[in-house]
Amino acid sequence: MSFKDIRQEVASTMARDPAARSGIEVVLLYPGFHAILLHGAAHAAWRRDWRFLGRLISQFARWMTGIEVHPGARIGRNLFIDHGMGVVIGETAEIGDNVTLYHGVTLGGIAPAVESAAQVDKKRHPTLEDDVIVGSGAQVLGPVTIGRGARVGANAVVVRDVPANVTVTGIPARMTVPRDREEARGFMAYGTPSGDQPDPLTGVIETLRTQVVALSARLTEIETAGEAKQRTGPGAASGVGDMDDEDRNAACG
Ligand SMILES: CC(C)(COP(=O)(O)OP(=O)(O)OC[C@H]1O[C@@H](n2cnc3c(N)ncnc32)[C@H](O)[C@@H]1OP(=O)(O)O)[C@@H](O)C(=O)NCCC(=O)NCCS
Repeated sequence: MSFKDIRQEVASTMARDPAARSGIEVVLLYPGFHAILLHGAAHAAWRRDWRFLGRLISQFARWMTGIEVHPGARIGRNLFIDHGMGVVIGETAEIGDNVTLYHGVTLGGIAPAVESAAQVDKKRHPTLEDDVIVGSGAQVLGPVTIGRGARVGANAVVVRDVPANVTVTGIPARMTVPRDREEARGFMAYGTPSGDQPDPLTGVIETLRTQVVALSARLTEIETAGEAKQRTGPGAASGVGDMDDEDRNAACG
């Protein structure tokens, strides 16, 4: 990691933590920052096939910070691990740029203890694309992809791919709110926007309202057609009774 990268890392941490008061505070007191620096060394050793040294540095980092990053994990620029304690990042995890993880996050395998030998050197941990935010205690399991700008709620369990720019919560995690692409690019502390978030319930009501309006219009159309038939054809019945099959299906939605 170059000096420039380190400065950028500090700046990006300050930009994403409302509690950070100065760069020196980040350098000296932020376990996430220490974990990332040490992972740089551990990963370099791992790539040179100095596997034991990589694991040794990783273990030292865990002891220092409470954050366990396997030396094989690939991490992009400006990862911010806030608080950090209890974070686990597995061997084949891949993390893009500007990703944020809170404490207690696991990027783990689905069932590492089952048929372990068959899993060696296989992709079994998640991929997080750029600008992803993962809330505290969330578990992201298996070789799933969390799309760019997506947010994972605190304590969610994610076992399927998550599309870009959406928020998922719960167990198993499900999408709560589609996110506007431009809005998602900007970082929001704790992954929580304050303003014009579309409300999912309002969306459902709006869809129902549109359908009711469309059905009313169609019924009026059918009634008008029925009345016209009544006026022109002898002995014709009135209104809805005149509907042909297509009209009846449309009226029933
Ligand atoms: C998921 C998250 C990003 C959503 O924030 P948001 O976009 O502001 O969404 P809202 O708070 O409006 O919630 C939308 C809905 O999801 C629910 N929800 C929010 N977060 C949830 C979570 N973690 N688990 C389950 N449901 C959640 C809300 O209750 C709400 O449901 P409702 O519409 O039925 O009332 C945020 O709640 C979160 O979990 N952030 C992580 C924060 C964190 O880890 N902080 C630690 C800092 S130390």
